[in-house]
Amino acid sequence: MRSEVRKAKVAGVGSFVPEKVLSNSDLEDMVDTNDEWITTRTGIKERRVVEEGMSTSDLAYEAAKLALADAGLKAQDLDLILVATATPDHLAFPSTACIVQDKLGAKGVPAFDLAAACTGFVYGVSVATQYIETGAYDNILVIGAETLSKIIDWEDRSTCILFGDGAGAAVLTPTEKGGILSNLLGADGAQSQVLKVEGGGSKNPLSQSIIDEGLHYIEMEGNPVFKFAVRILGRAANEALEIAGLDDSDIDYLVPHQANIRIIDAAAKRLDLQKEQVYVNLDKYGNTSAASIPLALDGAVKSGDIKEGDIVVLVGFGAGLTWGATVIEWS
Ligand code: ACO
Repeated sequence: MRSEVRKAKVAGVGSFVPEKVLSNSDLEDMVDTNDEWITTRTGIKERRVVEEGMSTSDLAYEAAKLALADAGLKAQDLDLILVATATPDHLAFPSTACIVQDKLGAKGVPAFDLAAACTGFVYGVSVATQYIETGAYDNILVIGAETLSKIIDWEDRSTCILFGDGAGAAVLTPTEKGGILSNLLGADGAQSQVLKVEGGGSKNPLSQSIIDEGLHYIEMEGNPVFKFAVRILGRAANEALEIAGLDDSDIDYLVPHQANIRIIDAAAKRLDLQKEQVYVNLDKYGNTSAASIPLALDGAVKSGDIKEGDIVVLVGFGAGLTWGATVIEWS
């Protein structure tokens, strides 16, 4: 293939969630909340959480196997493994990608983690696209996987109702027809404080006082994140479409980050999309951060909502703050 015509396509998708369901009524027994508040403010009805002993790489591995099978490839066919996660198995190293590589038996295949919170999967797809378009690599596994239940303060009702565990994966391969038409990434580090885990890193290494103060848990200012998300999703999708030489009237299907139904509805309205054109599964899984978009993409592909030739837009936002969008002509 000549590099100037070579594009990347999504050749296979897969996802995996833990069995254990935590419903809104379960949460009513844990914090001062209720199903009505959670449903009307977020759209979430239940989420999945891992059993003790299960980590992010376990979920990532299961999703990866399914994506590889869907693409008709073996682990040894891979040229690169990327894992987007905010909840790696280990804080420093080894990377979760290396652990997944070993579990898959993809000996020697380069592997690294990527951190862009909930936008991580879109960032990963963007990185993989460059390697494929330049001809450096052919088959790349991009995984978004999280066990957010491990960094949630289960006594903080403002955050514990939002998040869930899960993993989604995609195998990207070269194509000369359709495929990934554009990627758009963005970040605003000036807003890093609105959504953070303050303790446990090099700034505030884990200590008894960090644990006593609960600084190893997710902290979020919901309102600024909400306002940012409502603004950014439509803008990011439009900018990515413009790079692809398209506009929002060309969108057949939107796969947004599954954070809050009100954020998704606002983005759909801004992009002039009908309900049937937007994938939603947050009622079942909540916000699974980097896993959210690939989990949703897998659902949309497997349910037949996405068809050959469709213009599909993946769009997300997350801590950082970060945002990103990918435009795909599905092939
Ligand atoms: N149950 C009942 N009441 C609650 C709960 C709860 N679980 N949580 C908060 N409340 C109360 C508050 O205390 C407040 O009470 P008050 O009026 O007496 O002070 C009231 O409900 C309203 O609280 P708000 O925070 O103003 O509620 P809001 O409508 O903003 O919804 C929410 C909060 C759902 C968190 C919203 O702000 C949101 O979705 N923000 C975006 C969050 C997001 O997407 N985060 C993920 C980013 S992706 C990543 O990278 C991880």
